[in-house]
Amino acid sequence: TGLARFVDPLPIPPVMRAAGQRAHPHDPGRQLPYYRLQMRAFKAKLHRDVPATPLWGYEGQFPGPTLETRRDEPLLVEWANALPAQHFLPIDHNLHGAEKNQPDVRAVTHVHGARVPADADGYPERWYTPGHSATYLYPNGQDAATLWYHDHAMGITRLNVYAGLAGTFIVRDAQEQALNLPSGDYDIPLMLCDRLLAQDGQLYYPVSDDPDAPWVMQCNGNLPLCNGKIFPYLEVEPRKYRFRLINIANTSFFDLTLSQQQPFQQIASDQGLLAKPVERARIELYPAERADVVIDFSALAGKTMQLRHQSQGILEFRVRGSGKRDSSVVPASLREVPRLDPAGAVKHRVMTLNEVDDANGNALSMQLDGKRWSDPVSENPRQHTLETWSFVNLTGDAHPIHLHLVRFQILDRRPFDLFAWNARRELTFTGPAVAPEPHELGWKDTVRADPGMVTRIAMRFDGEPGRYVWHCHFLEHEDNDMMRPYDLLTNS
Ligand code: C2O
Ligand code: CU
Repeated sequence: TGLARFVDPLPIPPVMRAAGQRAHPHDPGRQLPYYRLQMRAFKAKLHRDVPATPLWGYEGQFPGPTLETRRDEPLLVEWANALPAQHFLPIDHNLHGAEKNQPDVRAVTHVHGARVPADADGYPERWYTPGHSATYLYPNGQDAATLWYHDHAMGITRLNVYAGLAGTFIVRDAQEQALNLPSGDYDIPLMLCDRLLAQDGQLYYPVSDDPDAPWVMQCNGNLPLCNGKIFPYLEVEPRKYRFRLINIANTSFFDLTLSQQQPFQQIASDQGLLAKPVERARIELYPAERADVVIDFSALAGKTMQLRHQSQGILEFRVRGSGKRDSSVVPASLREVPRLDPAGAVKHRVMTLNEVDDANGNALSMQLDGKRWSDPVSENPRQHTLETWSFVNLTGDAHPIHLHLVRFQILDRRPFDLFAWNARRELTFTGPAVAPEPHELGWKDTVRADPGMVTRIAMRFDGEPGRYVWHCHFLEHEDNDMMRPYDLLTNS
């Protein structure tokens, strides 16, 4: 596109301040910080030369303000729906949960990667309409990590998130703080996504040829956004910074490199610190995946450097001539990440990822294990037990698979014979298992399941019993049946 590069400063979403204190719902003697975030319509300039774009966002911002907390410090958030009564993006009324008899504008917020009781998880069917709100308790009993919050309303998640309903949620802890990584002003979330914009600045969401069934399988924008700006720049000091890269796009992945031949030092993945930093020339991030990286600008005083997606610069760093002393470090070991042993699993589930086509080969829907959202619950792990889940990808694309509530480890990916599966439902491997790369050895909550491969993960189902979900994080797939409820059962 012909838009001028690097003319707007990178916005850094403000950290949300608590609105006050409220009693703990299960322990009324205890006061908790209480936050209120309102979803509303607003307009924002996504680029200097583009007219203001109508959006929806938390607190009228895109991305929304950053929520910050510390491990084991619970907080209450009231998520208030103050959106207009009409949607401005194309709803497909054939999708489950978005039928004509449902209200157009519905919202419910999920904190991606949070370990929360089911009643605060933002279950897709627990949406509410404008004028209503839900107050959720987040216990934050989990390791420091870069989480994010976003809408999860049944059948329209892709539209609500595309409209702008997403923000960062950071959990910190003492162990991480003791490492003396770059912090404070030198610790910056970078929410990456893409959009299609019309000349007048309006968001354009792609539609199929059939006006009665507008759903599309994927939504790839042509304009990359960093924290809600197209091609911004950031002035930095000649020192180390921590950037929390978060892919909040509907379907696009990011393939990130730095100019100046600089590598990234990746220090964390979805669910927090890696055992040790991993130097990477290139970082590929699928939707919902996170990578925390340290970038060292100390040798670049007076110069510029770009963050690139494929070969295109999407963010320019302008390194000032001098700065304050940098006492931060990247220690050689960060945190212990004990490997889960699949031999201890009480259950091994094998599930397919599939595309359901019409007679002409057009995708009608996407499914998990050949089931629809409305089919009876089939995944019902017991609390505190270890399971392995294998995703047999029968489609031609990689899918980012996400489980709510738990953190998991990637065990391996192994090629299999698709023909044998289709003919006889037989799982025949055609090569050795491929071990995860060093940056994939940490705790994850979203895994790329490659085509032609069986991707195997292991997790312990710690958390409160109740109903959660697992799904593909391509939002178009999630909205069209590539999402399933699961029940965490008590272990007695
Ligand atoms: Cu990031 Cu179920 O979602
Ligand atoms: Cu998918």
